[in-house]
Amino acid sequence: MAKTSVSKKSYPWTTTLKGQQITLRLMQPADRDALLDFARSLPTDDLLFLSVDITEPEAVDAWTRDLQTNRVVTIFAEANGKLLGHGTLIRNNLTWTRHLGEIQLLISPDARGLGLGNLLASEIFRVAEEYGLQKIVARMAAGQKSAIAVFERLGFNAEALLADFVIDRNNRTNDLVVMTYDVTGLTI
Ligand SMILES: CC(C)(COP(=O)(O)OP(=O)(O)OC[C@H]1O[C@@H](n2cnc3c(N)ncnc32)[C@H](O)[C@@H]1OP(=O)(O)O)[C@@H](O)C(=O)NCCC(=O)NCCS
Repeated sequence: MAKTSVSKKSYPWTTTLKGQQITLRLMQPADRDALLDFARSLPTDDLLFLSVDITEPEAVDAWTRDLQTNRVVTIFAEANGKLLGHGTLIRNNLTWTRHLGEIQLLISPDARGLGLGNLLASEIFRVAEEYGLQKIVARMAAGQKSAIAVFERLGFNAEALLADFVIDRNNRTNDLVVMTYDVTGLTI
C-alpha cells in the first residue's frame, strides 16, 4: 500500500492492542463503500445518535468530497482488513471557528474496550495540532452517557448543554452536550 500522510506522520502504521494487530490508515474516497457498509452493520442503538447519517449514500458521498478538500480527515482502524472504527477530524478554515476542529469517534461494538477510542483520539489530537487548531469539540446527545464518560477520560470538559438541540431517528429530541479539549497545551 502506498504511504500517504496528513503532514509529518505517515500512514499506514500498525500497532498491537490487547494482542490484536491494528492498522491505522487514512480513509480515501475509494473507501466510500467500506464506510457505508460499516455504518449499516452497526446496531440500532448506535445509529440513534449519528450526527451525520452515514447509512445514507448521499451523506458518505459528501464525506468523501470533504476528504478531498482536507475539510475532513478520517483515520480508519482495521484488523485483518476489517474496518473496526474510525476517528475523524472536521474543520473549516473559512469560518470564524477556524481554530476549532470537531472530533468524531465510532468503534464497532465488538471492538470496544480495546483502547481504539484512545488510540484514534490521540491520532486526531496530533492531526489537530499539526493543523494549528486550538480546541477540539465533541458533540454528543445527553443520553450517550458512556460516550460522555469516555470523552471525560480523554480529557474533554463539558462546556455547554443545548436543550432539545438534536433529534434521533425515532424523532425524539435530546439535549446536546458540547465538550472541548484544549490542543494548545499538548506535548506529543
Ligand atoms: C465512545 C467510543 C468511541 C469509545 O471507544 P472504545 O474503543 O471503546 O474506547 P477505549 O477502549 O479506548 O476506552 C477509552 C477510555 O474510556 C474508558 N471507557 C470505555 N468505555 C467506557 C464506558 N462505557 N464508560 C466509562 N468509561 C469507559 C476506558 O476505560 C478508557 O479509559 P482509560 O484511558 O482511562 O483506560 C465507543 O464506545 C463508540 O464508538 N461509541 C458509539 C459512538 C459514540 O458515541 N461516539 C462519541 C461521539 S463522537
